[in-house]
Amino acid sequence: MTPFQYLKKTEKKRRSELFKFLEFPSVSAKSEHKKDMVACGRWLKDHLQQIGFKSRLVTTKGHPIVYAEYMVDKKQPTVLYYGHYDVQPPEPLDLWKTPPFKPQIRGGRIYARGANDNKGQVFTHVKGLEAVLKATGTLPINVKMIVEGEEEVHSTNLPVFIRKNRKLLKGDIVVVSDTAQFDHDIPAVTFGLRGIAAVEVYVYGPDRDVHSGSFGGAIANPVNILCSLVAQLHDKNGRITIPGFYKDVRPVSKFERKQFGRLPFKQKKYMKSLGVPALHGEKGYTPFERTWSRPTCDVNGITGGYQGEGAKTIIPSHASCKITMRLVPNQDPGDICDRIEKYLQKIAPKSVRVKVEKFGGAKGVVVPIEGPWLEAAARAIKSGFGVEPVFMKEGGSIPIVVDFKEILGLDTLLIGFGQNDDNIHSPNEKFSLKDFERGCKTAASLPAELAAVKV
Ligand code: BES
Ligand code: MN
Repeated sequence: MTPFQYLKKTEKKRRSELFKFLEFPSVSAKSEHKKDMVACGRWLKDHLQQIGFKSRLVTTKGHPIVYAEYMVDKKQPTVLYYGHYDVQPPEPLDLWKTPPFKPQIRGGRIYARGANDNKGQVFTHVKGLEAVLKATGTLPINVKMIVEGEEEVHSTNLPVFIRKNRKLLKGDIVVVSDTAQFDHDIPAVTFGLRGIAAVEVYVYGPDRDVHSGSFGGAIANPVNILCSLVAQLHDKNGRITIPGFYKDVRPVSKFERKQFGRLPFKQKKYMKSLGVPALHGEKGYTPFERTWSRPTCDVNGITGGYQGEGAKTIIPSHASCKITMRLVPNQDPGDICDRIEKYLQKIAPKSVRVKVEKFGGAKGVVVPIEGPWLEAAARAIKSGFGVEPVFMKEGGSIPIVVDFKEILGLDTLLIGFGQNDDNIHSPNEKFSLKDFERGCKTAASLPAELAAVKV
């Protein structure tokens, strides 16, 4: 039996197993799900054990890490697989057609939070490796696997584990499937990701909400002020105004310009798919350049004052917002957090107090754009999808990828099986059965291809 035949034979079983994995509400951001996180990690650990891996649950200061190994021969390449079993909060719940943790197949797609990001994609590798193991009795590579529970909350504790376990994690290359295909039926190898820096901004006015008739006009309104501060983060050309923000930015290279320019882009279709009346962004750059190779500064949520039913006339006592900035190589998240704080303090009027809470973040990622590992990955994708992958970058972040390079000295292969319209982080997240199958096939082809690389 070949691995592909094994996959075919186990199609139903694989789906019902994935459904089990998706049923855990493993929302890392919320403390109410602490137990669900442990249960989900334990389920995956047990599952890996069942299919033949040596696995354990590693406790951390936050959510546990699933670690698994299948070692065959020191002479063979060692591949470190990475993924995450935590998911984004599913809210707003009323926009989901079916509940986020009750997976359902509709129109050939699995709908559930985590169906793509990242449980579905993690599972393609688990099942791909299982197929090779069951069909051939062994693996042609040594496998070490980390599936963490804190990716969506900035991977705070994973670097600690990696630093402590340099020897254990010794390997040759990292494989991550937590990105997307370029488009439907156009798989991709991703050669760069953006980093991220996060802050929360608080504006304080009067020590309680006060009557807007009695006091409005004589004191500052924190919501008005916060809006004005946010409005001053960009100029009219869409450039970020924080002094020194672009100081370390690596310019869009000729190679990138050319590579991105070769990829098809249909502006009307793109606008329609997002329901926007026009595009927006930094002058002088294309949409791919803006989302993959240029930094951004965005409010994720803003709050303050009365938002209940009917009218209320007050000057609110405070307002706040959450801001994240997508970074590109070689920007440093700590430096960027310091700069936005300094800028906001400088432009804030004396009539309010401003506090900026800094959360740091992750650096942008660049991985080699050529070499034997990449060629091996491209061949595996060809086997799984029937077509050659394109090379692209992406705008999202996977914080730990930089640590794999800096702490372990390892490059990462970013091979995503999802789609940009799979609604990750949105209501009705999905993963098509077709992509799940092609992902499993790619994952089942990858070990032999990687084994052929001379290390
Ligand atoms: N799978 C995404 C990363 C991603 C998204 C890559 C889109 C390429 C395109 C990952 O799970 C994610 O969402 N990461 C967070 C990290 C953050 C919370 C530190 C992100 O990018 O917002
Ligand atoms: Mn995510």
